[in-house]
Amino acid sequence: MKNKVSIIGAGMTGATTAHWLAERELADLVLVDIVDGMPQGKALDLQESLPVIGKDVVVTGSNSFESTAGSDIVVITAGLPRKPGMSRDDLLSANAEIVGNSTRESLKYSPEAIIIVLTNPLDTMAYLAMKVGNLPPERIIGQAGILDSARMRAFVAMELGVSVENIHCYVLGGHGDDMVPLVRHSNVAGVPLAEILPADRLEAIVERTRKGGGEIVGLLKTGSAFYAPGAAVAQMVEAILKDKNLIVPTAAYMQGEYGLEDIFFGVPVQLGRQGVAKIIEYQLNEQEQEALKTSANGVKQTIAALESLVSF
Ligand code: APR
Repeated sequence: MKNKVSIIGAGMTGATTAHWLAERELADLVLVDIVDGMPQGKALDLQESLPVIGKDVVVTGSNSFESTAGSDIVVITAGLPRKPGMSRDDLLSANAEIVGNSTRESLKYSPEAIIIVLTNPLDTMAYLAMKVGNLPPERIIGQAGILDSARMRAFVAMELGVSVENIHCYVLGGHGDDMVPLVRHSNVAGVPLAEILPADRLEAIVERTRKGGGEIVGLLKTGSAFYAPGAAVAQMVEAILKDKNLIVPTAAYMQGEYGLEDIFFGVPVQLGRQGVAKIIEYQLNEQEQEALKTSANGVKQTIAALESLVSF
């Protein structure tokens, strides 16, 4: 039986996620959006591209959640993106309602689905989805760490002129400007980054990574990044559907790991068919622990703001 992945929100991120997923030929795809005709049009256009690249999946567009029935994975991208000058947290109240509704409707038709959340503020929206869906924590994952780590990898590759495949970077923490690029754990073909790059260049890369989303928003002016977030989701979906037990940073529900409780937070996670198979705990030094604490405090504040808006 073929796998089925539904994407809620067929805007820039949703449609691009569908594009990356179709290329991987992993599952039939359903795009859902509230805008009449738009998901249908994008789905048909994508379907018509597949003979060119030789991929056989069925892509459907719809304005109804019914079409998502029996999904293995639901990806939630519905909601507003940032505009210049906005933080991800500024999206909280508008997106909380959309994500809450998308979660409830999706689970009505796919009660066993694993949910991947992209809508910002990411960690808090994943928390909301878990609560409103009453989901076991392993079935709800926020996309962010792969994206943030990919940005750092891209910057290192640009600096050194080596293949991105040789570059391994790990960015943990909340998906905000306090995220924590773990320099000590990052390497180029096994050689620690700090041995390759001078301290000032490394610091510049860390800063650019932290503000990577804002850099794109500033350039686009009308919305936020979509190619890299979509590619990150495609990697997560593949890891889950193929039960790869792939270790990647993603936002997962903390139950004591890293000294954190009851928040979603970016940590290294082993992704398999059940979703989060395991959270990996790195040995962190004092400075790294402090940085994670600062980032976690930011996420906790956003969750508190959510709880003043919504009752679960
Ligand atoms: N159900 C389904 N779709 C919805 C709903 C809803 N209740 N509410 C809004 N949408 C759709 C919009 O119609 C729009 O097509 O969500 C889509 C969002 O697309 P864009 O505006 O292009 O935004 P995008 O760049 O995809 O970002 C969406 O993902 O990365 C995050 O920060 C980003 O929170 C933002 C989200």
